[in-house]
Amino acid sequence: MNGAKYHIHTYGCQMNVHESEKIAGLLQARGFSSCEDVAEADVIVMNTCCVRETAETKVLGHLGRIKSQKKKGAVLIVCGCMTQQRAVAEMLYKRCPFVDIIIGTFNQGSVTEYIDTFLATDKRIVDIWDKERDTKEVSCAVRDDDINAWVNIMYGCNNFCTYCIVPYVRGRERSRPLDEIISEVNSLLDRGYKQITLLGQNVNSYDCGGKNFIDLLKMLDNGREYRLKFMTSHPKDFSIALAEEIGRSKVLSHNLHLPVQAGSNSVLKAMNRHYTREEYFDKINAVREAVPDIGLSSDVMVGFPTETEEDFLETLDLVERVRYNNLFMFIYSRRDGTPAAKMPQIDYKTKQGRISRLIKTQFEISKQIALSMVGTELTVLTSEQKNGVFYGKAQNELAVSFTGDAKIGEFTRVKITSAKNANLAGEVKR
Ligand code: SAH
Ligand code: SF4
Ligand code: F3S
Repeated sequence: MNGAKYHIHTYGCQMNVHESEKIAGLLQARGFSSCEDVAEADVIVMNTCCVRETAETKVLGHLGRIKSQKKKGAVLIVCGCMTQQRAVAEMLYKRCPFVDIIIGTFNQGSVTEYIDTFLATDKRIVDIWDKERDTKEVSCAVRDDDINAWVNIMYGCNNFCTYCIVPYVRGRERSRPLDEIISEVNSLLDRGYKQITLLGQNVNSYDCGGKNFIDLLKMLDNGREYRLKFMTSHPKDFSIALAEEIGRSKVLSHNLHLPVQAGSNSVLKAMNRHYTREEYFDKINAVREAVPDIGLSSDVMVGFPTETEEDFLETLDLVERVRYNNLFMFIYSRRDGTPAAKMPQIDYKTKQGRISRLIKTQFEISKQIALSMVGTELTVLTSEQKNGVFYGKAQNELAVSFTGDAKIGEFTRVKITSAKNANLAGEVKR
């Protein structure tokens, strides 16, 4: 397939976005080049997500469209979390004869070998592994962004929150060797990246060769000018020591994504989250004390099986008290194979009503936070310029648009002059 073109479509979280960058790296190492148009591609990869039903429905709809768009002889590969579920992989194999290769999350590092086998035999492939057989770190990722780079520090999850499919499709926690992470970060900084985001389902449990997450963060505070972020932190493992490290470090971004999921203790217990709302508030207070300008964000779910109206009101109350800069809000989605799928479910209308009320509450909070920022100065990492206006994110993860003398990929002090809804506008500080 010399001179062949590939097209990758990615669903899901940052972890998947980065997996796709690695798949692109493997394909380019074989001499393939990327193309925007599916109809031109010789190899099409769909990297899928299954965290909510909506993600799966979108993938199925998209596959239907690709069937008619793909050119004759093009190889269509479906991989990722959705196909890691064996039953889904088998369903796709039966129902979608135009899909040539179906693999999961553990074996997508061998994507080019699967392509070779398929081309040599002309036999469709479905191969799902139950766990990783040999840890093969792909070092040739082709990154989509030239300012922010994703770096895996661990894979998998051991937490088994009762609603969540991730532990079943990503396996148990595995930490990457410390020296490998440090050298990847250093080489990215040498290449000019200005922001590094460390990825793991639960970064607080990083543990490799006796070194923990805070040891890793200290080693990455290396005197160079860049912004270091991490996701995701589980509240049960978030420590005061980590809050203090955020305050002390010269590179760590002053933002913390600490997904609370729910505000009621009985729902948190049914979700198997291992913390109470009181403990969560204590951690929020500790981090605000250590880092007064911290920007907080969170994931919240409504309509979990046992959630009553009173439970939901406790979630609203928590959101109003914490006042997050950014909040990702979801309707609980039943996932086969998880414990919560067997609990009595809440009707769709109730869930819809709750999410609308939550969105409205957060919208007001975002508006008030934005207004309170007017007159302050923020350090913005500029990522885009359109019609003379620059766009970027501040150290607390608030999005800012501004005018003045700036450069993409550089840090600029911006004075905030106005706020419209949750959007901040300003000008470069002279
Ligand atoms: N490891 C991370 C990310 C997990 S997936 C974490 O623990 O935070 C990202 C978010 O999707 C979760 O925080 C949760 O809010 C949401 N999510 C997971 N399973 C879900 C489900 N079955 N229905 C709705 N939202 C879900
Ligand atoms: Fe899912 Fe919970 Fe693991 Fe996050 S910590 S990936 S929500 S099981
Ligand atoms: Fe991410 Fe979706 Fe998998 S959220 S870990 S791509 S199920």
